[in-house]
Amino acid sequence: MIPPIQQILIPREAIEAKVRDLAHAISAAYQGRDLVLIAILKGSIVFLVDLMKELDLDVEIGFFYLSSYQGQTSPQTQVRHFDIPFPVITGRDVLLVEDIFDTGASLAYAFGECQKHRPRSLKTCVFVVKQSKERAGLPAIDFRGFDIPDVFIVGYGMDYQEKYRQLPYIAIPRLP
Ligand code: IMP
Ligand code: MG
Repeated sequence: MIPPIQQILIPREAIEAKVRDLAHAISAAYQGRDLVLIAILKGSIVFLVDLMKELDLDVEIGFFYLSSYQGQTSPQTQVRHFDIPFPVITGRDVLLVEDIFDTGASLAYAFGECQKHRPRSLKTCVFVVKQSKERAGLPAIDFRGFDIPDVFIVGYGMDYQEKYRQLPYIAIPRLP
């Protein structure tokens, strides 16, 4: 269960403190309004659950189930979208919740899909940002947790070949 770890990048206590800080900022920003949290499965589930427990707002939750992979012949990241029930977001305040911003393709796809439904507002909350990957043309990150260098990480929802999502810390694994 415990992966071979090269380095614990973000320990449990730092994660918990950051989730509380983000929740305070989000609660202040949406004070007195209802909020729809849309999480991108699977990676964001752990963050979503922790975050929503700290929010001082009425929230509804919904999900996208996206899977991204590198195209065989093109370096561009493709995004597959699996259909699951989705809340009505037209005219509502929506916050997209994402575990990690790497190429930004998943967030950009989810952002575009939400925009089609004409929400009242649409913002993004990303727990871990590979800062070097942020580019013009991708959705802005309105609420951000940690900026990290371009390294592969596991834990706190994030996997390596579907494993290690349940780790309560974020680590750089020693990969085979
Ligand atoms: P994107 O490239 O920003 O679209 O990220 C796609 C998805 O890949 C993210 O939502 C994560 O689930 C996953 N991902 C990106 N970087 C990492 C990583 O370092 N470790 C584990 N999963 C990652
Ligand atoms: Mg993800």
